[in-house]
Amino acid sequence: MQVFDNYSNFATMKRIAIFASGSGSNAENIIRHFASRPQSGSVEVIVCNRPGAAVIDRASRLNVPVEMITADDMNTPRRMIEMLDRYGINMIVLAGFLMMIPPYLTKKYEGRMLNIHPSLLPAYGGKGMYGRRIHEAVIAAGETRSGITIHTVSEICDGGEIIFQAPLDIAPNDTPSTLEARIHDLERLHFPRIIEQYPLP
Ligand code: GAR
Repeated sequence: MQVFDNYSNFATMKRIAIFASGSGSNAENIIRHFASRPQSGSVEVIVCNRPGAAVIDRASRLNVPVEMITADDMNTPRRMIEMLDRYGINMIVLAGFLMMIPPYLTKKYEGRMLNIHPSLLPAYGGKGMYGRRIHEAVIAAGETRSGITIHTVSEICDGGEIIFQAPLDIAPNDTPSTLEARIHDLERLHFPRIIEQYPLP
């Protein structure tokens, strides 16, 4: 249910589509965050490109609709824009979404699309760098620090403007999976709040 206190709220209210391909722990945290603060926004839809991804069940349990898309859908502007307009989306959040966003969409949502990346960009970013692979590479390189980056989405993979980073010290006994768990904790702590506070253009 939408709660509109007044017109200024209506103007700034975030109507969010979360794009996700995997487990969806971030998607779930963001849905819960906005469900408890309906005056600042709401997650209207989850957009998913991987049949069977755990995010689908999480969204269903939380009563958020899921739109499944293919690569063909993504590359058909009319289809994607019609779908996003149907939900009145004014902000897109990428949370573990493993498909490239085509330029027509980065342009349409310029300054209105955020991504979270589980490293301190520009380190360990770029094509092929996602999820557990990043943590394996970070540990293999003997790094003593990693962290999270939240950035706007541009046509360049993991490019865009960095709007937030939080570092974390790597312990000598950290493994890729302990590091991944600690990174997820950091994401849970910060991502929903940064989305809420991010000023839409
Ligand atoms: C998150 O750690 C996110 O930062 C990462 O995928 C994970 C998704 O977890 N994103 C990337 O690696 C993007 N390059 P989740 O499905 O449990 O939210």
